[in-house]
Amino acid sequence: MKTLIKNIKQLVQVRDQNITKLKGKQMSYLPTLSNAWLLINEDKIENFGGMGTLPNIETDQEIDATGKLVLPSWVDSHTHLVYAGHREQEFVDKINGLTYEEIAAKGGGIVNSARQLQNTSEEELYQQSLQRLEQVIKMGTGAIEIKSGYGLTPEAEIKMLRVAKKLQKAHPILIKTTFLGAHALPAEFKDNKQGYIDQICNDMLPKIAEENLADFIDIFCEQGYFDIHDTEQVLEAGKKYGLRGKIHVNQFNSIGGVKTGVDYNVLSVDHLEVMKDEDIEALKNTDTIPVALPSCSLFIKIPYAPARKMIDADLPLALATDYNPGSSPNGNMNLVVSLACIKMGMTPEEAINAATLNAAYAMGIEKTHGSITKGKIANLLITDQVPSYGFLPYSFGNNHISQVILGGKLVQ
Ligand code: NIG
Ligand code: FE
Repeated sequence: MKTLIKNIKQLVQVRDQNITKLKGKQMSYLPTLSNAWLLINEDKIENFGGMGTLPNIETDQEIDATGKLVLPSWVDSHTHLVYAGHREQEFVDKINGLTYEEIAAKGGGIVNSARQLQNTSEEELYQQSLQRLEQVIKMGTGAIEIKSGYGLTPEAEIKMLRVAKKLQKAHPILIKTTFLGAHALPAEFKDNKQGYIDQICNDMLPKIAEENLADFIDIFCEQGYFDIHDTEQVLEAGKKYGLRGKIHVNQFNSIGGVKTGVDYNVLSVDHLEVMKDEDIEALKNTDTIPVALPSCSLFIKIPYAPARKMIDADLPLALATDYNPGSSPNGNMNLVVSLACIKMGMTPEEAINAATLNAAYAMGIEKTHGSITKGKIANLLITDQVPSYGFLPYSFGNNHISQVILGGKLVQ
């Protein structure tokens, strides 16, 4: 099956295969091709060029993109899309002045979602999650990472990961899964944190590895949750099963978790709302990419990750939604790109790079996703008629996606 998209006003994020991660000043350049065509063969980008070089070939489908932009689909490298129910009561508590920590202390927060999830059947959990997956596909996300961490028992963690894996069969969006057993301490282990860490490492992890349910391992390294020693144990255990780390760190406090993550060569360190100079220093010249989650900052009213400072220190940066019921009940990457520009001082070029190619790196899929590159998977979004790519973050909260192509197929 061959599809030709022609008269593209601007093809955005056109790259060679060897460009895999952008850091510092490299992020301010977003390569484009104006008045272009792009040819899809089966699930891959076969070729593209200026309209003056349009090849005369037989195709099965033609799409006219006059006045429209074509971008690689968004890559969302950090979500908790599989969850049960919702927590809008906590939203009201927050409006009434309670903090995230206070809500957690009265039985809300992550353990509230865990309770709901434990009482939800696998089929029901799948249906709820499928709806959210379909919602993010419409908003232009073409690859997504999904974490466990709202189960907090071996059965419920496995249930979450099975659902996440099953979602892969429903739609051509690429899914990677992450085991986040160490998301919060379940009530049964209130006075026995080491007991829970042991359960994660010696009980959950072997089962999850045996069923091949996870691609990465994660931990919430934070005061009141899990400390550096816990983080080392979990990352070490993950390593034994070939699972690379992607960790939640520096959301509320800087306790040394960034350095620990780097020492374990984690793929990404995520959140980073509170960064000391030594955290930024630890990330320099490493394979670990920082990931900012601006919709979480917006929703729970905490600082935004210091994107400017990180980019100016020559670090790479990726953006993700953190889609979850507590701190970011929204999986809209378009909004994340806007927030990065409005609240974090990123330029449209930096934000789009961070939400595509760098985000693909943060998911370990940069060789196949995240840019318009010959041979990469044809995951594309086609905008409506917009003046420029800068209009996308500028026109915040509005939907400018008219068509979505996943694995070479028009899905919307
Ligand atoms: O990434 N920070 C830890 N975990 C989630 C929030 C979880 C929740 O409140 O349910 C996050 O923000
Ligand atoms: Fe998260």
